[in-house]
Amino acid sequence: MCCGTMFVLGIETSCDETSAAVVADGRDVRSCVVASQVDLHSPYGGVVPEIACRSHVEALPGIVEDALGNAGLDFDAMDAVAVTYGPGLASSLLVGTAAAKGFALSRGLPLLGVNHLAAHLFSPFLAPDVPPPAALFPFAGLVVSGGHTCLLRVEAWDRMTLVGQTVDDAAGEAFDKGATLLGLGYPGGPAIDRAATGGDPAFVAFPRGRVTSDRFCTGSLRRELCFSFSGLKTSLRQLLEGHPDWKETHTADLAASYREAIVDAIVPRCRRAVEGCRALVCGGGVILNARLRSGLARMAEDAGCRLLLPAPRFCGDNAAMIAGAAGAGLGEEAGLDLDVAPNLAPA
Ligand code: KG4
Ligand code: ZN
Repeated sequence: MCCGTMFVLGIETSCDETSAAVVADGRDVRSCVVASQVDLHSPYGGVVPEIACRSHVEALPGIVEDALGNAGLDFDAMDAVAVTYGPGLASSLLVGTAAAKGFALSRGLPLLGVNHLAAHLFSPFLAPDVPPPAALFPFAGLVVSGGHTCLLRVEAWDRMTLVGQTVDDAAGEAFDKGATLLGLGYPGGPAIDRAATGGDPAFVAFPRGRVTSDRFCTGSLRRELCFSFSGLKTSLRQLLEGHPDWKETHTADLAASYREAIVDAIVPRCRRAVEGCRALVCGGGVILNARLRSGLARMAEDAGCRLLLPAPRFCGDNAAMIAGAAGAGLGEEAGLDLDVAPNLAPA
């Protein structure tokens, strides 16, 4: 412990980013190194688990060294090691957790297991000038990424309720699949964003992700807060089958309409979810979408609630949110028997 500051080394390997970070006192990011594997997976149009975990094995030692080096600190200054233990790809999670156990054991440091989804919700708080989470409880939480789409009500970090989620594809997955259909490449979110420039978002009225059956929405889930994106992808596919030339002649219009349908599925649900809440707190790679950010900003102003968005570098998967969440008390003390939880629920 140095001068009362608590330093946490965070490790994140749940999907296709290898990342390590050093965060002081849960808020102050001293370093965050992220190595994206996107070039390795793009030929396949999605993440290949075997390639992902092997690449984590190769990259992680150097990335941890860089994170410590960039922070100007060494292992002796660390107070704990935090690692994502779920949800995510089992083989990828195993690489990060095994490494974190090795570091914790060899350096005599406590090991903290962190839920990746809770960490995404913590990502907007990685800035010392943002109010602390406790000042905003209860808030609504939105996580939109390549693997997850969920809405939570957060009374406190240990009192989170899942109120909405996707019943099929995640929002980022919808971007990725749409981009593949339009021949725009992977990852789809940025590709669709680029292609949509100058396009007409009203060119096609794609479905807005409504869930029509109560079958999937049990327990605390509310049907009007749940999402379904698979119909959107099907609708685009059928449209392209009927008008094969539109892929070339109307790329911008189709990309803009497709993106609009995803944004317009998310924003109104957030509007409902923030009722009775002080803020909407967001995280995940899809939050990089400028149209979604501005739609959420307008909604929050209209609803009279605060909107907390992560800085762009903390939207996608990163270890700063893992170290930060652990430093803020969201990590669970774990032993060397910490197991991975590929299907860990957000709450
Ligand atoms: O959070 P993330 O890095 O990884 C997961 O935990 O899944 O999110 C990746 C997802 C991908 O599906 C990607 O297409 C999407 O975030 N994404 C975007 C944008 N940038 C990345 N989606 C929409 N607009 C963007 N600008
Ligand atoms: Zn993620």
